Amino acid sequence: MKACINGVTIGYTDRGEGLPVVLLHAFPLHRGMWHPQVESLARSYRVITMDLRGHGESDAPLWRYSVQQVADDVRGLLDHLSIRQAVFAGLSMGGYVLFALYRQDPRRVRALILADTRAQADTPEGRAARFHLAQTAYRQGPGAVADVMIPKLLSPATHQANPDLVLQVRAMIERTDISGIAGSLMAMADRPDSVSLLEQVTCSTQVIVGDLDVATPRADAELLAERIPGARLAVIPGAGHLSNLEQPDRFTDVVRSFLSDLPNG
Ligand code: MLT
Repeated sequence: MKACINGVTIGYTDRGEGLPVVLLHAFPLHRGMWHPQVESLARSYRVITMDLRGHGESDAPLWRYSVQQVADDVRGLLDHLSIRQAVFAGLSMGGYVLFALYRQDPRRVRALILADTRAQADTPEGRAARFHLAQTAYRQGPGAVADVMIPKLLSPATHQANPDLVLQVRAMIERTDISGIAGSLMAMADRPDSVSLLEQVTCSTQVIVGDLDVATPRADAELLAERIPGARLAVIPGAGHLSNLEQPDRFTDVVRSFLSDLPNG
């Protein structure tokens, strides 16, 4: 399905009934990365996945945008769907968007699932790497971006044991427009630090990290779990950065158990 939100076409999927659960994807992928979770969760919940602007079926406008604008799109889509409050899960870049959304309107957030993400802003080296990756995208296309990103997204064990998954992730990256890759890189490079926000989070929170995640390692997840009052931490064995794809059943079990422990979940 598609909707025009804040002047941009946004692709989304709305499945199931019950408590709304919104899943926000990683960079430079699209909502299809949640496929293993959607099937299972939609049996008990209303599951919404969306392509963040610049990705998948959503427009990739050739102009600078911010993580705050992406969070506006999420809220705009919820308005379009008449959803006042939801549980939100964000993996990596999806988590960055959730920090912005929580800052904008915490009342919309029933609970948070922060997977393989971090609260800290980019270091100067991290920003420089994003600049170089944007130039790579512009000069050599999304295939070259996949070459750089895939070793950071998937663990060596996944490369060995699950070559089909490596191909699926490559295909998701290769369909991303260059303007979307560059736009999201700029947005992430400019995102504010969210560490001071963590102790203000009052909703139930589940933090998840793959034990082999090199992009946002376990220490980043531990910081989230230590600073967010009452947060739970789950470490997924045998998973790298894309823990929901590398260990889909374990990831879904953590999410299901968190959701069922919510009051009236
Ligand atoms: C992601 O998976 O969304 C990216 O690795 C996030 C980032 O580059 O910081």
